[in-house]
Amino acid sequence: MSLPVIDLVAGARPNFMKLAPVARALTDAGQLRFRIVHTGQHYDEAMAEVFFRELGIPKPDVNLEVGSGSHGAQTARIIERYEAHLLSNRPDATVVFGDVNSTAACALAAAKLLVPVAHVEAGLRSFDRTMPEEINRIVTDALADLLLVSEPSGVTNLRHEGIPESKIRLVGNVMIDTLMGQLEKARERGAARKLGLEGRRYGLVTMHRPSNVDDPAILGRMLVLLRELSGDLPLVFPVHPRTRQAALKAGLGELVAAGQAGLICVDPLPYLDLLSLAQGAALVLTDSGGLQEETSILRVPCLTMRENTERPITVEQGTSRLVGNDATIIRTAFHEALTGKWGHGAGIPLWDGKAAGRIAMELSSWLIRN
Ligand code: UD1
Repeated sequence: MSLPVIDLVAGARPNFMKLAPVARALTDAGQLRFRIVHTGQHYDEAMAEVFFRELGIPKPDVNLEVGSGSHGAQTARIIERYEAHLLSNRPDATVVFGDVNSTAACALAAAKLLVPVAHVEAGLRSFDRTMPEEINRIVTDALADLLLVSEPSGVTNLRHEGIPESKIRLVGNVMIDTLMGQLEKARERGAARKLGLEGRRYGLVTMHRPSNVDDPAILGRMLVLLRELSGDLPLVFPVHPRTRQAALKAGLGELVAAGQAGLICVDPLPYLDLLSLAQGAALVLTDSGGLQEETSILRVPCLTMRENTERPITVEQGTSRLVGNDATIIRTAFHEALTGKWGHGAGIPLWDGKAAGRIAMELSSWLIRN
């Protein structure tokens, strides 16, 4: 009997860290065959290929090469190209990850062709529809047949939305599988030493959300604040392409340029370098979803530069605090973190490095039952 075939779909940077352990667990379990579909939403070596290499993800079976564009154009291109792939290579199911445009677009293409959809990281809600990711989460979960959830809030949210209990599985956080699997290698990488920070305290910054970078006034305020804070603590700032472009367009290029004294601006970093910096940092300032989770497990204070989070467990039981983009609040929190006035967090249930194994098991029993 031939094994069921599933598509594992990834498109943008945070997807790759989620897909890697699931692909490995499926290979180990040997009950399903999978194909890796890369939509090409992210395409730069530093935003995509390096993650495949470092995380040992097999080369994509298919690359849809959709590239960048407005939300409508990019989403439409993904739907069109993934639909064509489905029509000629129909899988038994499609598995999508996270909340990027590729996630919602491929779920939609599959659901229209009655290909069952599983969503890894289902149920998270920021309740803020100004975030493009929130729209992607709602659309994907409405279409998914199997909802694999990383934290209990996700289960509550899905129940409130009327998703039948039979579709929901709390499996834990697969990003943490990758973190735990790579931590030793990340430590050995010594990314801080390479930046001349050996033996020194430093902070790590990432910032790319539209709410922080798309409005030149807000972006300017944030970059000036980072420069100010870097007078007290050197800050390593890998600059996302969206942020760099927005800064250049707003005439703020010098604030994201290399060669500043305390604010060490670098290109986007490979996973191992980022993890290496995060685990050794005195604090992290970020608007990333993934880093809120990673710092919680690493027990590093995380100042989350957002008004809300779809990952409330990182605030309740982790090390994240929502500081928005108000300079006074960020300044106060920064000094509290620096002087040790910050919670260490507690362990988070099911963020144990074994989520991918549970996902592989759920996928197998779901497909073999159906
Ligand atoms: C996307 C995700 C976001 C995720 C982020 C991680 C959506 C809606 N957003 O945001 O949830 O946190 O990825 O990085 O899917 N660009 C490059 N090279 C690349 C890719 C993009 O230069 O390889 C530039 C392009 O100019 C592009 C811009 O970055 O227009 C934004 O890329 P896009 O994929 O639209 O969204 P992100 O901001 O990366």
